[in-house]
Amino acid sequence: MTDVLGNEIFWAVHKDLPREAPGDDASTLRAFAMLKDLPAEPNILDIGCGPGAQTVALARASQANIVAVDTHQPFLDDLVRRAARAGVAERIKPVNASMFDLAFDERFDLIWSEGAIYIIGFEEGLRKWGSLLKPGGYMAVTEISWLKPDVSNESARFWLDGYPAMATVEENLARVARAGYQPLGHFTLPESAWWNLYYHPMAERITQLREMYRENAAAQEILDIEYAEIELYRKHSNDYGYVFYVMKADC
Ligand SMILES: C[S@@+](CC[C@H](N)C(=O)[O-])C[C@H]1O[C@@H](n2cnc3c(N)ncnc32)[C@H](O)[C@@H]1O
Repeated sequence: MTDVLGNEIFWAVHKDLPREAPGDDASTLRAFAMLKDLPAEPNILDIGCGPGAQTVALARASQANIVAVDTHQPFLDDLVRRAARAGVAERIKPVNASMFDLAFDERFDLIWSEGAIYIIGFEEGLRKWGSLLKPGGYMAVTEISWLKPDVSNESARFWLDGYPAMATVEENLARVARAGYQPLGHFTLPESAWWNLYYHPMAERITQLREMYRENAAAQEILDIEYAEIELYRKHSNDYGYVFYVMKADC
């Protein structure tokens, strides 16, 4: 298996999916509704925005101006197209920059990040990104979390390998407090938010790629690994889920 082939297949699997992580507009809007005293035209920073399903949902639900950050230019290009179709392009500014190294002239009323804070690490992201917030600003992020203390061996093995820092909801709430935020609420995304806009389209794409790479054993092996994540969730969705954590900076 080569890195080049792995990379090629990863992006082929992830090209043009409706979302790049579990999520749906209803969950985005439910979390947004928890923010009670945002200004009428808040400025929002959406970190790891991907193709921007949540960016567009936030822009449509508010009069916000949104800076949307990602390092994968094709996702930002997709976001621009989606925003134009939704009639909100003039309020969304795509920026190709890394979440590890963000610097802006403005500070934000709200930082949003769906399915991306794991890249920098949950607590590290909360601490580091906090400096980009106005005093008392809000943060809303989704993070894959253990939903119970005793999970199946299969789930534990898979995620200990893929994301060893994955924690329970209680542990994440403790991290929220340690990082200097007051938790405003949290909820687990419904299972449909994994399937409808993410795993179902991804499984369909994997089937097409299996056919395309039918003579290539290394490619089939990579596709097996991608598919294993989907099958694991099918069997063990009680063990783990994506959780929205909504919070307010202490100062
Ligand atoms: C799992 S996807 C989630 C995308 C989107 N928020 C969604 O829910 O559809 C994670 C995103 O983080 C982006 N990403 C990866 N490394 C990054 C970095 N260092 N800085 C900013 N974005 C990054 C990826 O390109 C991808 O779009």
